[in-house]
Amino acid sequence: MKVLVTGGAGYIGSHTVLCLLEEGHDVVVLDNLSNSNAESLIRVQEITGKQVALQEIDLLDSAAVHGVLRGGNFDSVVHFAGLKAVGESVVDPLTYYKNNVAGTINLLESMQSAGVHRLVFSSSATVYGNSENVPLTEKLHLEATNPYGRTKQHIEEMLNDLCTSDPTWAVALLRYFNPAGAHESGLIGESPVGVPNNLVPFVAQVAVGRRDKLFVFGGDYPTIDGTGVRDYIHVMDLAEGHLAALGHIQRNCGAFKWNLGTGKGSSVLEVVDAFGKAAGRSIKYELVARRPGDAAVSYADAAAALADLGWSARRNLEQMCADHWRWQVSNPNGYER
Ligand code: NAD
Ligand code: UFG
Repeated sequence: MKVLVTGGAGYIGSHTVLCLLEEGHDVVVLDNLSNSNAESLIRVQEITGKQVALQEIDLLDSAAVHGVLRGGNFDSVVHFAGLKAVGESVVDPLTYYKNNVAGTINLLESMQSAGVHRLVFSSSATVYGNSENVPLTEKLHLEATNPYGRTKQHIEEMLNDLCTSDPTWAVALLRYFNPAGAHESGLIGESPVGVPNNLVPFVAQVAVGRRDKLFVFGGDYPTIDGTGVRDYIHVMDLAEGHLAALGHIQRNCGAFKWNLGTGKGSSVLEVVDAFGKAAGRSIKYELVARRPGDAAVSYADAAAALADLGWSARRNLEQMCADHWRWQVSNPNGYER
């Protein structure tokens, strides 16, 4: 199968490209490299021994996107490209709506005119907002609480409408929980620009000595140890979930939504402990005030993906930390040399 992967040079995209190549698919990446480095794809080629073409294009450049789809003879598109920092989206919402929503409209119009009607879309557990109905199921009402989350919610609604209007479309809406970890080779992984927003990359930078200590946001939640609980999913499990979803939409039309999570929550301090063990060093941390907008507990009901796709996460927190650490310690500055 020939697959176009938008945002394929990024963190989750590069791991999924690797899996697609290993399954024998032909892959073209479309990425403007605004939050990534082409080195990720060079390394994917090193690991797999297979070639991947990179089209350095912005999704907002509709003529260029059109050109790629028109001549490409693609079977399907996996759409990762987007901006993802919650705080930044609050400060600069228009940039988020333009990049994520308008960028997706450009992509869909180009797919429509090229007759490519199969899409896997990166949604997020953020669409559930701060719902307390854990485990979170796909049936819950969506109530994103920030502009980033609302871009995901709007795109999901747009894709539902598209599938209703034209029954030849097949779309998988994948709601990721908290991705972490890296490919076991330690050659590819997450390479955040600036101060990491997310827990695991921050902990990894403390472990490697790039940062002094972790600030734990809130120690008074009603959880096992007072710290926030999340569903951390290994990025390779997540990547494999995309292949399962791609398979499903080759055989079925319509819009499908699946949580991609493990179904198990871990607290911040449990992650700190597991990472410390993986790295063989203790992680310095300080308990500080809650981060505004954070939920106490979030984890997936992952039953639908198992029932429909035969997919479930196979890797645990220990393996995730070990793989994340292998990547971090051999690439202390990410892809920046
Ligand atoms: P990432 O930033 O590493 O990857 C996104 C990629 O998209 C980058 O390579 C970036 O350069 C590219 N991109 C952004 N805007 C573009 C544009 N206009 N044109 C072309 N390329 C563009 O992020 P990631 O963690 O790999 O996330 C991938 C997707 O998954 C995103 O849509 C994100 O919102 C979603 N998601 C991520 C998480 C997470 O915690 N990492 C959780 C839930 C959902
Ligand atoms: N945390 C800290 N210190 C930090 C960073 C995080 O204590 O420096 C805590 C948070 O308070 C939370 C947990 O670690 O309890 C996880 O926080 P993350 O920022 O890693 O993840 P979130 O669950 O807040 O959000 C992430 C993405 C969202 C996405 C969501 C679900 O940032 O965009 O996962 O996929 F929607």
